[in-house]
Amino acid sequence: MTSLEVRGITKRFGQLTAVERVEFSVRAGEICGFIGPNGAGKTTTMRICSTLELPDEGDVLVDGISVLEDPRAARRRIGFMPDAYGAYVNTPVLDYLDFFARAYGLYGAAKRDTLERVVAFTSLGEMLEKEISALSKGMKQRLCLAKTLLHDPPVMILDEPAAGLDPRARVELRELVRALAQMGKAILISSHILTELAEMCSTVAVIERGQIRGVGAVSDVMQSILPKTRFFLRALAGPEALERALLERPHVLDVRRERDGVTLELEGGPELQAELLAALVGAGLRPTEFTPRATNLEDVFLSLTEGKLQ
Ligand SMILES: Nc1ncnc2c1ncn2[C@@H]1O[C@H](COP(=O)(O)OP(=O)(O)OP(=O)(O)O)[C@@H](O)[C@H]1O
Ligand SMILES: [Mg+2]
Repeated sequence: MTSLEVRGITKRFGQLTAVERVEFSVRAGEICGFIGPNGAGKTTTMRICSTLELPDEGDVLVDGISVLEDPRAARRRIGFMPDAYGAYVNTPVLDYLDFFARAYGLYGAAKRDTLERVVAFTSLGEMLEKEISALSKGMKQRLCLAKTLLHDPPVMILDEPAAGLDPRARVELRELVRALAQMGKAILISSHILTELAEMCSTVAVIERGQIRGVGAVSDVMQSILPKTRFFLRALAGPEALERALLERPHVLDVRRERDGVTLELEGGPELQAELLAALVGAGLRPTEFTPRATNLEDVFLSLTEGKLQ
């Protein structure tokens, strides 16, 4: 079931088209990474999904509800964690959460249960009496997440939640996001920490200068944006013989000899890879290792960002 459906949204700020016909969707239980360089239009898209901004064209369906037709109902189904979370009031953690729980119309046992649930989930139990201003950045992010979860939204929109967190806090955040997906929530998460997105996301949407460049499974998107793969290849015949054989093959874009093997760039997908291996075996080179070399989201990102910020 699709939970977040972005339908061809366009947003202009004066002369600037910040977002142009952006379209993608996130299903329940899925984590979709939203990648793009600074100024690409991620926050603008997320704010439109969260009813904080109106699109000039297009619409967004949150759990089937249009943000244009019924923004109040859509809002109840969205948990939005903004990138910058304003100034924190000087309040103890528990009072802060309690205030927002009441703002969501929770009282009595329902409120108590909800607070217990989100405090346990975000492990804020030890912090309840602490003033917010005394919390570390990682703890503040958890508090922000806890607040975002009070109304138990089926759709979560997290704008760079890992920014500024140390490695341990990032791992913890990742675990929380995974747990939320396992509960069946649809999650859209933007980040510049690409290795992390690759690890936790089932799908990605890549945006550049307001337009979607690729959307789908992580490996498919990488393939479509960088239609070549790098491999390390080793064979009993030795690096020299390998190099010679490879240079004569079609679809081999680059070969570099190394001490105990070669690295090569190959265009095309698994079909061509299998064909190449078969040819090497056929030629008696006796390959022993054929390993993809990290072509990763980092490469995709870099290929998108060469001085093209807006
Ligand atoms: N309220 C606004 N008024 C004018 N221009 C805006 C406004 N909000 C965003 N923009 C512009 O729209 C473009 C997209 O910005 P947006 O914040 O969506 O990018 P982003 O992908 O979130 O970038 P970052 O990675 O830096 O957070 C930028 O050029 C930005 O300057
Ligand atoms: Mg942003």
